[in-house]
Amino acid sequence: MSARQLTLALSKGRIFEETLPLLAAAGIEVLEDPEKSRKLILPTNRPDVRVVLVRASDVPTYVQYGGADLGVCGKDTLLEHEAEWGGAGNVGLYQPLDLGIARCRMSVAVRADFDYARAVRQGARLKVATKYVAIARDFFASKGVHVDLIKLYGSMELAPLTGLADAIVDLVSTGNTLKANHLVEVERIMDISSRLVVNQGALKVKREALRPILDAFARASQPQGVAA
Ligand code: PRP
Repeated sequence: MSARQLTLALSKGRIFEETLPLLAAAGIEVLEDPEKSRKLILPTNRPDVRVVLVRASDVPTYVQYGGADLGVCGKDTLLEHEAEWGGAGNVGLYQPLDLGIARCRMSVAVRADFDYARAVRQGARLKVATKYVAIARDFFASKGVHVDLIKLYGSMELAPLTGLADAIVDLVSTGNTLKANHLVEVERIMDISSRLVVNQGALKVKREALRPILDAFARASQPQGVAA
Protein backbone atom coordinates (compact mmCIF):
# COMPACT_ATOMS: atom_id res chain seq x y z
CA MET A 1 0.00 0.00 0.00
CA SER A 2 1.20 3.47 -0.78
CA ALA A 3 1.95 6.10 1.85
CA ARG A 4 -1.38 7.71 1.00
CA GLN A 5 -3.58 4.64 1.47
CA LEU A 6 -5.22 4.45 4.90
CA THR A 7 -6.87 1.49 6.61
CA LEU A 8 -9.18 2.15 9.56
CA ALA A 9 -10.11 -0.73 11.90
CA LEU A 10 -13.59 -0.64 13.45
CA SER A 11 -15.81 -3.16 15.20
CA LYS A 12 -19.44 -3.65 14.23
CA GLY A 13 -22.21 -2.23 16.39
CA ARG A 14 -22.12 0.83 18.57
CA ILE A 15 -18.50 1.83 17.83
CA PHE A 16 -19.08 1.60 14.07
CA GLU A 17 -22.33 3.57 14.24
CA GLU A 18 -20.92 6.30 16.48
CA THR A 19 -17.73 6.65 14.41
CA LEU A 20 -19.73 7.42 11.23
CA PRO A 21 -20.45 11.07 12.14
CA LEU A 22 -16.75 11.60 12.92
CA LEU A 23 -15.83 10.14 9.55
CA ALA A 24 -18.43 12.39 7.91
CA ALA A 25 -16.74 15.38 9.56
CA ALA A 26 -13.55 14.28 7.83
CA GLY A 27 -15.41 14.00 4.51
CA ILE A 28 -15.41 10.20 4.59
CA GLU A 29 -18.50 8.12 3.92
CA VAL A 30 -18.53 4.34 4.28
CA LEU A 31 -20.24 2.93 1.20
CA GLU A 32 -21.59 -0.35 2.62
CA ASP A 33 -23.65 -1.20 5.68
CA PRO A 34 -21.91 -3.93 7.73
CA GLU A 35 -25.29 -5.10 9.04
CA LYS A 36 -26.37 -5.92 5.48
CA SER A 37 -23.12 -7.06 3.91
CA ARG A 38 -20.79 -9.93 4.83
CA LYS A 39 -17.79 -8.02 3.54
CA LEU A 40 -14.95 -7.41 5.98
CA ILE A 41 -13.30 -4.67 3.93
CA LEU A 42 -15.63 -1.76 3.28
CA PRO A 43 -14.91 0.87 0.65
CA THR A 44 -15.45 4.56 1.32
CA ASN A 45 -16.14 7.50 -0.97
CA ARG A 46 -12.39 8.13 -0.80
CA PRO A 47 -10.32 5.70 -2.89
CA ASP A 48 -7.42 6.19 -0.44
CA VAL A 49 -9.41 5.20 2.68
CA ARG A 50 -10.90 1.80 3.54
CA VAL A 51 -12.49 0.35 6.66
CA VAL A 52 -11.75 -3.14 7.98
CA LEU A 53 -14.22 -4.80 10.34
CA VAL A 54 -12.61 -6.70 13.20
CA ARG A 55 -13.67 -7.91 16.63
CA ALA A 56 -13.50 -5.12 19.21
CA SER A 57 -10.72 -6.86 21.14
CA ASP A 58 -8.67 -7.25 17.93
CA VAL A 59 -8.62 -3.53 17.05
CA PRO A 60 -5.48 -2.71 19.13
CA THR A 61 -3.70 -5.75 17.68
CA TYR A 62 -4.45 -4.75 14.07
CA VAL A 63 -3.26 -1.21 14.66
CA GLN A 64 -0.20 -2.20 16.69
CA TYR A 65 1.08 -4.58 13.97
CA GLY A 66 0.14 -2.28 11.09
CA GLY A 67 -2.73 -4.36 9.70
CA ALA A 68 -4.58 -1.08 10.06
CA ASP A 69 -3.13 2.42 10.31
CA LEU A 70 -5.69 3.61 12.82
CA GLY A 71 -8.66 2.26 14.73
CA VAL A 72 -11.34 3.01 17.28
CA CYS A 73 -11.69 0.93 20.44
CA GLY A 74 -13.06 1.19 23.96
CA LYS A 75 -10.91 2.14 26.94
CA ASP A 76 -11.78 -1.31 28.36
CA THR A 77 -10.29 -3.06 25.33
CA LEU A 78 -7.17 -0.88 25.43
CA LEU A 79 -6.54 -1.47 29.13
CA GLU A 80 -6.84 -5.23 28.68
CA HIS A 81 -4.55 -5.14 25.64
CA GLU A 82 -1.94 -3.08 27.49
CA ALA A 83 -2.05 -5.45 30.46
CA GLU A 84 -1.38 -8.39 28.11
CA TRP A 85 1.74 -6.58 26.93
CA GLY A 86 2.92 -5.74 30.43
CA GLY A 87 2.01 -2.06 30.30
CA ALA A 88 1.13 0.78 27.92
CA GLY A 89 4.82 1.52 27.35
CA ASN A 90 5.32 -1.82 25.60
CA VAL A 91 2.45 -1.28 23.17
CA GLY A 92 3.31 0.61 19.99
CA LEU A 93 0.10 2.57 19.85
CA TYR A 94 -0.28 6.32 19.67
CA GLN A 95 -3.48 7.39 21.45
CA PRO A 96 -4.19 10.96 20.43
CA LEU A 97 -7.89 11.26 21.26
CA ASP A 98 -10.67 10.24 23.57
CA LEU A 99 -13.52 10.39 21.05
CA GLY A 100 -16.19 10.43 23.76
CA ILE A 101 -18.31 7.91 21.86
CA ALA A 102 -19.79 4.53 22.85
CA ARG A 103 -19.96 5.71 26.44
CA CYS A 104 -20.75 3.21 29.17
CA ARG A 105 -19.25 2.14 32.48
CA MET A 106 -17.39 -0.82 33.93
CA SER A 107 -19.16 -2.10 37.01
CA VAL A 108 -19.39 -4.87 39.56
CA ALA A 109 -22.77 -6.62 39.67
CA VAL A 110 -24.18 -9.38 41.87
CA ARG A 111 -27.46 -11.23 42.38
CA ALA A 112 -30.03 -9.05 44.09
CA ASP A 113 -30.01 -11.42 47.09
CA PHE A 114 -26.21 -11.43 47.51
CA ASP A 115 -24.93 -9.20 50.33
CA TYR A 116 -21.87 -7.77 48.57
CA ALA A 117 -21.11 -5.11 51.20
CA ARG A 118 -21.10 -7.74 53.93
CA ALA A 119 -18.92 -10.16 51.95
CA VAL A 120 -16.37 -7.37 51.34
CA ARG A 121 -16.53 -6.22 54.97
CA GLN A 122 -15.93 -9.73 56.24
CA GLY A 123 -12.94 -10.16 53.95
CA ALA A 124 -14.54 -13.10 52.16
CA ARG A 125 -12.75 -14.39 49.08
CA LEU A 126 -15.00 -13.38 46.19
CA LYS A 127 -15.41 -15.39 43.02
CA VAL A 128 -15.57 -12.88 40.17
CA ALA A 129 -16.33 -13.81 36.57
CA THR A 130 -15.32 -11.43 33.82
CA LYS A 131 -13.97 -10.88 30.35
CA TYR A 132 -12.00 -7.92 31.77
CA VAL A 133 -9.50 -9.74 33.97
CA ALA A 134 -6.88 -6.99 34.17
CA ILE A 135 -9.37 -4.26 35.06
CA ALA A 136 -11.03 -6.50 37.66
CA ARG A 137 -7.69 -7.57 39.17
CA ASP A 138 -6.50 -3.96 39.53
CA PHE A 139 -9.80 -2.78 40.96
CA PHE A 140 -10.10 -5.42 43.67
CA ALA A 141 -6.39 -5.21 44.49
CA SER A 142 -6.78 -1.45 45.05
CA LYS A 143 -9.63 -2.18 47.49
CA GLY A 144 -7.67 -4.94 49.21
CA VAL A 145 -10.37 -7.49 48.39
CA HIS A 146 -9.22 -11.03 47.68
CA VAL A 147 -10.74 -12.47 44.54
CA ASP A 148 -10.63 -15.61 42.44
CA LEU A 149 -11.00 -14.43 38.86
CA ILE A 150 -12.82 -16.61 36.37
CA LYS A 151 -12.23 -15.65 32.75
CA LEU A 152 -15.31 -15.71 30.52
CA TYR A 153 -15.78 -14.57 26.92
CA GLY A 154 -19.43 -13.48 27.05
CA SER A 155 -22.83 -13.77 28.75
CA MET A 156 -21.23 -12.95 32.09
CA GLU A 157 -24.65 -12.31 33.61
CA LEU A 158 -25.13 -16.07 33.79
CA ALA A 159 -22.22 -16.62 36.17
CA PRO A 160 -23.91 -15.44 39.42
CA LEU A 161 -27.18 -17.08 38.37
CA THR A 162 -25.62 -20.51 37.98
CA GLY A 163 -23.34 -20.37 41.03
CA LEU A 164 -20.20 -20.06 38.91
CA ALA A 165 -19.33 -16.76 40.59
CA ASP A 166 -20.47 -14.36 43.33
CA ALA A 167 -20.00 -11.28 41.17
CA ILE A 168 -19.26 -10.14 37.65
CA VAL A 169 -17.28 -7.25 36.24
CA ASP A 170 -18.91 -6.12 33.01
CA LEU A 171 -19.89 -3.15 30.88
CA VAL A 172 -23.15 -1.48 31.76
CA SER A 173 -24.88 0.96 29.46
CA THR A 174 -28.63 1.20 29.98
CA GLY A 175 -28.62 -1.38 32.80
CA ASN A 176 -31.32 -3.36 31.00
CA THR A 177 -29.25 -6.54 30.70
CA LEU A 178 -28.57 -6.58 34.45
CA LYS A 179 -32.22 -5.89 35.24
CA ALA A 180 -33.47 -8.62 32.91
CA ASN A 181 -31.23 -11.10 34.74
CA HIS A 182 -32.06 -9.96 38.28
CA LEU A 183 -28.60 -8.56 38.92
CA VAL A 184 -27.76 -5.28 40.62
CA GLU A 185 -24.84 -2.93 40.09
CA VAL A 186 -22.93 -2.58 43.37
CA GLU A 187 -19.80 -0.67 42.32
CA ARG A 188 -18.85 1.55 39.45
CA ILE A 189 -15.23 0.88 38.51
CA MET A 190 -14.70 3.45 35.74
CA ASP A 191 -16.36 5.35 32.95
CA ILE A 192 -15.62 3.97 29.51
CA SER A 193 -15.55 5.67 26.12
CA SER A 194 -13.84 4.93 22.83
CA ARG A 195 -10.40 6.14 21.82
CA LEU A 196 -8.64 6.69 18.54
CA VAL A 197 -5.46 4.62 18.25
CA VAL A 198 -2.84 5.11 15.55
CA ASN A 199 0.06 2.92 14.44
CA GLN A 200 3.28 4.69 15.42
CA GLY A 201 5.02 3.88 12.14
CA ALA A 202 2.04 5.13 10.13
CA LEU A 203 2.12 8.34 12.12
CA LYS A 204 5.53 9.07 10.63
CA VAL A 205 5.22 7.59 7.14
CA LYS A 206 1.60 8.60 6.52
CA ARG A 207 1.54 11.80 8.51
CA GLU A 208 0.17 13.90 5.67
CA ALA A 209 -2.71 11.54 4.97
CA LEU A 210 -3.51 11.08 8.67
CA ARG A 211 -3.34 14.70 9.79
CA PRO A 212 -6.63 15.96 8.28
CA ILE A 213 -8.50 12.94 9.68
CA LEU A 214 -7.02 13.37 13.17
CA ASP A 215 -7.85 17.08 13.09
CA ALA A 216 -11.43 16.50 11.92
CA PHE A 217 -11.96 13.81 14.58
CA ALA A 218 -10.56 16.15 17.25
CA ARG A 219 -12.90 18.96 16.20
CA ALA A 220 -15.96 16.72 15.87
CA SER A 221 -15.41 14.96 19.20
CA GLN A 222 -14.91 18.08 21.32
CA PRO A 223 -17.25 17.63 24.30
CA GLN A 224 -20.19 20.07 24.41
CA GLY A 225 -18.87 21.93 21.37
CA VAL A 226 -15.88 23.50 23.13
CA ALA A 227 -13.82 25.34 20.53
CA ALA A 228 -10.74 23.46 19.29
C1 PRP B 1 -22.43 -5.45 26.81
C2 PRP B 1 -22.26 -5.99 28.21
C3 PRP B 1 -23.67 -6.29 28.65
C4 PRP B 1 -24.48 -5.27 27.87
C5 PRP B 1 -24.86 -4.13 28.78
O1 PRP B 1 -22.46 -6.49 25.93
O2 PRP B 1 -21.45 -7.14 28.21
O3 PRP B 1 -24.06 -7.59 28.33
O4 PRP B 1 -23.67 -4.75 26.81
O5 PRP B 1 -25.69 -3.19 28.10
P1 PRP B 1 -26.99 -2.61 28.80
O6 PRP B 1 -26.60 -2.11 30.15
O7 PRP B 1 -27.43 -1.48 27.88
O8 PRP B 1 -28.02 -3.70 28.86
P2 PRP B 1 -22.33 -6.22 24.37
O9 PRP B 1 -23.68 -6.06 23.78
O10 PRP B 1 -21.35 -5.12 24.12
O11 PRP B 1 -21.74 -7.59 23.85
P3 PRP B 1 -20.71 -8.61 24.51
O12 PRP B 1 -21.55 -9.54 25.32
O13 PRP B 1 -20.07 -9.25 23.34
O14 PRP B 1 -19.74 -7.82 25.35
